[in-house]
Amino acid sequence: MEIVIRPDYDRLCDEAAAVVFEELARKPDLVLGLATGRTPLGLYERLARRPEAFARACFFNLDEFYGLPPTHPESFHAYLRRHLIDRVRHDPAGVNLLRGDVTDLDQAARDYEDRIRAAGGIDLQILGLGRNGHIGFNEPGSSLGSRTRAKTLEPETVAEYAKSGQDLPRFAITMGVGTIMEARRLLLLASGEGKAEIVRQMVEGPVTAEVPASAIQFHPRAVVVLDEPAASRLKRRDYYKWVYANKYRVGQKAPGEAPAPPPPRS
Ligand code: PGA
Repeated sequence: MEIVIRPDYDRLCDEAAAVVFEELARKPDLVLGLATGRTPLGLYERLARRPEAFARACFFNLDEFYGLPPTHPESFHAYLRRHLIDRVRHDPAGVNLLRGDVTDLDQAARDYEDRIRAAGGIDLQILGLGRNGHIGFNEPGSSLGSRTRAKTLEPETVAEYAKSGQDLPRFAITMGVGTIMEARRLLLLASGEGKAEIVRQMVEGPVTAEVPASAIQFHPRAVVVLDEPAASRLKRRDYYKWVYANKYRVGQKAPGEAPAPPPPRS
């Protein structure tokens, strides 16, 4: 797991955007998994400035409230269209967002897994982190091998969303932890002091279904981008910063290595 600690939320978003653009440069037809919530808003703002980068990308998302149609302003569908998709794409092909207004949730969940497979799997999955340790709507106790399915939300999660004054459903459809873990790369963002304790548990605590996000400790290519307040309870905070400062970057010289000769003149 790569832990990146940036001084503030703006720098966190810059770093996260750099990861997404790096993946898009490598693979213009990137299969990108999107997250909702407050945390990725600054990231989406940055991504939306370069719509041309998304011309061939394909989109999936993590979760949706059960019962909300895509047109409902509080649906995750509407959120993602507003903050990213409608700003970078005008072609519906390749946009695969979960719908909350389906009649057969189990069938919809199976179809979604099929669509992910048909797209070749998710290349980069963006994640937020719930205060209770959820990723997607995989609440504590979710099987770490779970697939896309219906999920009953914790009262605290419902209350968190109700703060916005909305009476929202208590059920959701969500990618499972197992589905998320199959993405080739994970990019998890967490910001603010309120996330510090759950970040500590996710990164430095045991892997447990009590903290579904802790499963990412098993992922071979997970990058966790934090701001200082969210990183404040990490025991090995200084080490993560040291690793970042000394990170090997493509084209970088190893210490003591002779400078490269100038390119030949043509
Ligand atoms: P937040 O939500 O970004 O609004 O904190 C994160 C989540 O619940 O996944």
